[in-house]
Amino acid sequence: MGLEVILLPEELKQKDITNTLVVVIDVLRASSTITTALAEGANSITPVYSPQKARERIESSNYKEALLGGERKGERLPGFDLGNSPLEYKNNIIQGKNIILTTTNGVRTMEIVQDAQEIIVGCFLNVQAVADYCLSYPNDILIACAGDRGNVSLEDTVCAGMILELYDNKKERKKYQYDDSLIATQMYKKYSLNLFKIMKDSIWGKHLLQIGLEKDLVYCAQRDIYKHIPVIVDGSIVVKK
Ligand code: MLT
Repeated sequence: MGLEVILLPEELKQKDITNTLVVVIDVLRASSTITTALAEGANSITPVYSPQKARERIESSNYKEALLGGERKGERLPGFDLGNSPLEYKNNIIQGKNIILTTTNGVRTMEIVQDAQEIIVGCFLNVQAVADYCLSYPNDILIACAGDRGNVSLEDTVCAGMILELYDNKKERKKYQYDDSLIATQMYKKYSLNLFKIMKDSIWGKHLLQIGLEKDLVYCAQRDIYKHIPVIVDGSIVVKK
């Protein structure tokens, strides 16, 4: 049994993940938004990478009542009900709703890992629950950082390192096979005491700050405010039972 990190979804193309649990990490902000939306009462979230396909999905009879959410360049798409800020996903708007969500890196990563045995979603908001689930999982586990348009992202790397640390505190695992895991652990050690600093130091965090979304950074830097695990079942993300 192994637990490994990959810092970019592109690395997955070489790997057979059909017997592997994949944890998709996109701290800023897809993972944090999905985790929050389910906590606030959304029924399900269907990740669709292409904005056009997301719009078309709404037209199909199963999704007529659904809300359309997502971003490009961090901003809400024209005609969409919601953007990708976790703070928009409030109970009074999304209770009982299905949401079609398109995002640049997080949803793209979910599409890349679709052959995995199981796909769950992690971020700082539910990091302990995710680590506990990994500890109980009987097969291989891959923590897949979404990164930032093909580049490694600091906040995802630190979150992956935090899951590794929580895991290693409880269970011995195989030695690292890739430097990605080592890098994640080292970056976690550097930043563990100041999660908000990661957000401010990271390139995407700086971009979100520039477009006036500091509150999102503060929110996403919180640790363990939720205990549930989002899991993909039949193409949609729901709370793991
Ligand atoms: C993404 O999936 O690329 C992000 O969630 C972007 C964002 O912060 O909205």
